[in-house]
Parts: sequence; structure tokens; C-alpha cells
Amino acid sequence: MHDIIRQLDEKRAAARLGGGQRRIDSQHKKGKLTARERIELLLDPDSFEEWDMFKEHRCNDFGMAEQLIPGDGVVTGYGTINGRLIFVFSQDFTVFGGALSEAHAEKICKIMDHALKVGAPVIGLNDSGGARIQEGVASLGGYADVFQRNVMASGVIPQISMIMGPCAGGAVYSPAMTDFIFMVKDSSYMFVTGPEVVKTVTHEEVTAEELGGAVTHNTKSGVADLAFENDVEALNMLRRLMNYLPANNREKPPVEKTNDPADRLDFSLDTLVPDNANKPYDMKELIIKMVDDCNFFELQPDYAKNIIIGFARMDGNPVGIVANQPLVLAGCLDIKSSIKAARFVRFCDAFNIPVVTLVDVPGFMPGTAQEYGGIIKHGAKLLYAYAECTVPKVTLITRKAYGGAYDVMSSKHLRGDVNFAWPSAEIAVMGPKGAVEIIFREEKNDPAKLAGREAEYKAKFANPFVAGARGFIDDVIMPNETRKRICRSLAMLRDKKLENPWRKHGNIPL
Ligand code: HXC
Repeated sequence: MHDIIRQLDEKRAAARLGGGQRRIDSQHKKGKLTARERIELLLDPDSFEEWDMFKEHRCNDFGMAEQLIPGDGVVTGYGTINGRLIFVFSQDFTVFGGALSEAHAEKICKIMDHALKVGAPVIGLNDSGGARIQEGVASLGGYADVFQRNVMASGVIPQISMIMGPCAGGAVYSPAMTDFIFMVKDSSYMFVTGPEVVKTVTHEEVTAEELGGAVTHNTKSGVADLAFENDVEALNMLRRLMNYLPANNREKPPVEKTNDPADRLDFSLDTLVPDNANKPYDMKELIIKMVDDCNFFELQPDYAKNIIIGFARMDGNPVGIVANQPLVLAGCLDIKSSIKAARFVRFCDAFNIPVVTLVDVPGFMPGTAQEYGGIIKHGAKLLYAYAECTVPKVTLITRKAYGGAYDVMSSKHLRGDVNFAWPSAEIAVMGPKGAVEIIFREEKNDPAKLAGREAEYKAKFANPFVAGARGFIDDVIMPNETRKRICRSLAMLRDKKLENPWRKHGNIPL
């Protein structure tokens, strides 16, 4: 017995030391925490239950038989965040660069299987050089086993990827299939092929940071949802995000009591929309003033800024917010913003999070770049996402709701439950100027006449009453009462039940 206990202690110590003190020091020197330090910060104190600490790889090639490190480069198990169950894996870069072996993959699969069984989220802390090169196809098979589970878990339990080091090759595809990807600035990279391969194949010279750093994926590619300064900030923010999410698709998201009254009025909102319809204003001001305690957890803030997405609470209940941003491209919908919002709406729908949509949209972005890029297909993603969405949907038109974009942005016609408009709303096929230039083309050389037509069009359509008369708008509300009216609507909708017809799956335009 004594002998076994001594062996146990030795094995645990070896596992905790990972690839050794030299490599741990090197990890720290890069400003990175170790796999275990990260788990400690992520989870509630003393809540972590580790599994498979003694698991070892089974590779005998290239001298690997002599290099057995208990745990094999990934720390796995479960614990709690703010008292709620979470499964986690954290790759240990000090062990073969966190590279994924068959055994390493089995550990990840084991916690994913359990997470699915009990209905709890999986968080992956990724820090890995990709497939364990010494293992060949066994490692590739391990990746595919993880991918398959990612897909089976999609829409059933939340899956979050935190990229905290290199993430190369096929290793990027597991995070890509999770719900959110977060990155740490200056220490995390994601690319399918690294700078060396890029140079050989395309002759482009690019640094790892430019090719796949946190800034690149948060501003250019839209692959990542947020970028953080360092590991500590990243893990703290991840804890905050989890507070908005239910454990699985059968649960409602967690309610948090607030002292912010649901019927709080904000008179400063009455002057938010400028008199001049072409003057922009900051939609974030409305969001901040409308939600509980001015607390808005924005996602993808630096990508497709013409649309805003993120989580907040209203009267204690989590909501997903989608809002056009008039400050950027006048709030037009384009390819990037359509994809950004569509994926977010689908996440909210999968996890029972009501969607609040704030509309000020002059239409879809015109031009060859958009048409050649497939705006028809990509814009349809957002239309599809809103139309299939069955969670409570509350919509507010603050100013423009023109053309197809009016339909798309959670309109009554796409089963919007409650559709409000401010008195400044303009709901029409297009703006007055463009409209009269088309329908009164023969008068184009008579500016005075055209101006009269424009004024006539404006008087008829640049208001919320035509839509109101048809019941497409349930009420015209004062800006100051926005929070109160939306909170009430959400309370009324709390037990909403709506099901789409049975099907294997829809065929969203991809
Ligand atoms: C085995 C690996 C490894 C790997 C790194 N190491 N990557 N061991 N398999 N894939 C080991 C190194 O040998 C080294 O061991 C230690 O990890 C740290 O690596 P360094 O290179 O010293 O670290 P650094 O300079 O920080 O560079 C990190 C790195 C680089 C950028 C990740 O190591 C690298 O480019 N690795 C190869 C990446 C790659 O091509 N992976 C395969 C992708 S293909 P010692 O003993 O010196 O500490 C793929 C296919 C999956 O993933 C397909 C699924 C569909």
C-alpha cells in the first residue's frame, strides 16, 4: 500500500510538472500561464475535479517510448463557474508543445461525452502545436473524433474556445465549430498553414501575428469574437460570459437579480435621434441606457461595426441584442454584418435567449464588391436566421427601416412577437430621395417639382403610422420609455411556445 501511495504521489508530481520547470519558465517568460494555472483562474476556487491525470500516449516511434509524461499534454475535468457546472480541457504547451496525440484526444472526447450526457458547457483552453507529428494518422483520427463531438454538441451545450497560444493546422477546426472563439493578444495565433508554408506556396511574406494573430481575427477575418490583453483578463471575461448562458438547450438562461428598475425611464433618449435623417448617432448609447445596470457584453466589437451584437440583461433576464449602427456605413447591411448577426441570432435561438433587435437600416449595401461577394446568399443568412428563430423576439425601429432590410431585421412578418417604433421611425421601400427619382423619373429635370414630390413621399411614408395602420408595428413608443416597454414585452413572452415543423435540418444558404 505504501508503495502504491508513493507511486501515486510521484505520478501526480510528474503530471503537475508537465514538460518540466525549464519549459514552465519559458511559458511564463512569454507572458503565458500554464495549463493548470489557467484552470485555477477560470474555475471557482477548489472546484476542479481532474480526470485522466495518469493517461499516457502509446507511441513508440521517434524515441517517444522513453518520453512518457502523465497527462499527455492536456489537463481535463470539470468544476464550477459561479457555482454552475462546466467541463474544461486545457492544453499544456510544456508537453510536446501541447500537440494532440491519440491519448490526448481521448481525454478531450471523454469530457465532451460527459458534458453532453449531463448537459453542461465545454470550455477549451487551446495552446497547441497541432497534430502530434510523431504519431501520424493516429493523431489525425484523434482530431476527427473531437470534430465529430463538436458537431454533435453544437446547439445542445454551449462550447467556448479560448485560444491562448499557437493553434495551427487542423487544430483550428475544432474551435471553428464551437460557439465563440476568444483570443489573447500577442500570444495566440490561428492559421490553417503557417507563415513558412504561405511563403513557399504564395510567395507572401507575412508574420504569424499578421497572418493569424488576435487583432487579425478580430478585425479582418471575423473568426474570433473578442481579443484580450493577457491570460488573466481573458479568463475573467470568460467567467463573465458564462453568466449569460444556460447550461444546455433545454434550460433557460440564468436570471440575476438587479436593483435597476424595469420601469426606469431615460429622458435623454428622447433627443438621441437627430432631426436630420442623414446625421448619424451612436446606437450603443441606446443599448447601454436600455439594459440592466448599463452592462453590455459586446461580441465582435471591431468587426463589421455596422452591426452590434452582444449579451445583456433586462429585468435580470439575459437577452441577445442585435442592432444596426448608424455611425458605420450608415448602418447598412453588408456581407460581413449579415453573417455576424445571423450566427449570433442562431446561437440565441438554440439556447433560449430572447432576441432584442434595434433597427436603423437604410438597406443592403449596393455595389459590385457586395454582389460579386455574394450578398444575396449572405444577406439571406440573416433573413433565414430570424425567420427560423422561435425564441421571444422584440424589435424596435428607431429611425430607418427601408427595403428588404426592414423585412430582415426581425419584422412582424418574420414572426417578430412585439414590434415597436419610435416616433422618428421611417418605414418604406427606400429613402424619399431615391424613391421619387425612380417613380417620377420623367420629372428629373424639374428640381422644384421633384422636391415637392419628395416632400409628399416623406409626409406619407417617413413615419411609423403606415406600418402601424396595418398592425406591422404594435405601438409607437416614446424613446424615454424604451426599457420599460421592452422589459414588459419580454415578461409577457417568458413562456412563449413556438415550434418549427419537424425536419432533419433546414438548408440555410452557406
Ligand atoms: C510534436 C511538437 C509539435 C507537434 C511543437 N512541438 N509542435 N511536438 N508535434 N505538432 C514541440 C517542439 O518539438 C518543442 O519540443 C516544443 O513542442 C515547443 O515547440 P517550439 O517549436 O520550441 O515552440 P515555439 O517556438 O513557441 O513554436 C511553437 C509552434 C511550432 C509554432 C507551434 O512548434 C510549430 O510550428 N510546430 C509545428 C506546427 C505544425 O506544423 N503542426 C502540425 C499541423 S498539421 P521541445 O522538446 O523542444 O520542447 C495538423 C493536422 C491536423 O495539425 C489535421 C486535423 C484535420
